[in-house]
Amino acid sequence: MALAVALQLLTLWALGHADLTPSVPPASYPKPWLGAQPAAVVTPGVNVTLRCRAPQPAWRFALFRAGESVPLLLRDVSMELAEFFLEAVTPAQGGSYHCSYRRLDWGPGIWSQPSDVLELLVTDLLPRPSLVALPGPVVAPGANVSLRCAGRLPGMSFALYRVGLAAPLQYRDSAQRWADFPLIGARAPGTYSCYYHTPSAPYVLSPRSEPLVVRSDDSSSLDYTQGNLIRLGLAGLVLASLGVLVVLDCCSRSSALHQALPGVW
Ligand SMILES: *[C@@H]1O[C@H](CO)[C@@H](O)[C@H](O)[C@H]1NC(C)=O
Ligand SMILES: *[C@@H]1O[C@H](CO)[C@@H](O)[C@H](O)[C@H]1NC(C)=O
Repeated sequence: MALAVALQLLTLWALGHADLTPSVPPASYPKPWLGAQPAAVVTPGVNVTLRCRAPQPAWRFALFRAGESVPLLLRDVSMELAEFFLEAVTPAQGGSYHCSYRRLDWGPGIWSQPSDVLELLVTDLLPRPSLVALPGPVVAPGANVSLRCAGRLPGMSFALYRVGLAAPLQYRDSAQRWADFPLIGARAPGTYSCYYHTPSAPYVLSPRSEPLVVRSDDSSSLDYTQGNLIRLGLAGLVLASLGVLVVLDCCSRSSALHQALPGVW
């Protein structure tokens, strides 16, 4: 009798702790979705809520940090949504998170497929972007140029500045890690820099990029080179035509000779 009770207690204990050792879930337990409020990129001290949303009512939710098999936080809620509060986050709390859920009727230790990874970044300053000109910083006459400001995070807002102007010259949101700013070639020469920031408050900013100098091509030297190329091309054409004429002349003469002296040939 005492043994049976002990076994039952042990089983209950094991069930309670089974959550700590997630095993491979069946594909039929679809993954939840993990999001961050107010944003996944925040300055230190902000209260961040990580929301795990399941595609079906669950019984328990778990928040995991990358590389750790023990849940960081557990929430027992019998609905589709669980919230994990990270109060006044520090840079050390940045990193990769994912969540899973489980239902009461699933086997012990069985969690759903993990959500996609959420990258939480807690920083005062985003990495400095680079600014390059495409196709290059020397603009040929009549051509246009595009300036690419590239950061390290997708989904940011980018601003292009021209040295001498206080307000941004152009501004755009991008789903990529970079934004392209098209410039009309004739107006492009100048010195530029850019920066990017999170698209909504609380804003986290990057420092400005290194300055980029855009020049217009030295058109006189280009004309000189082009003129020489054209002259060379014409000379080649004349030589080739002369060659063709010589060959034609020679052949027509030989065929004339052929006709004049049939017996010799
Ligand atoms: C963060 O949450 C705590 C506790 O809920 C609250 O006292 C504090 O004012 C919040 N801080 C901010 C910046 O919202
Ligand atoms: C340069 O940009 C202007 C304005 O977008 C456009 O009208 C023009 O055709 C472009 N020129 C070239 C060479 O692409």
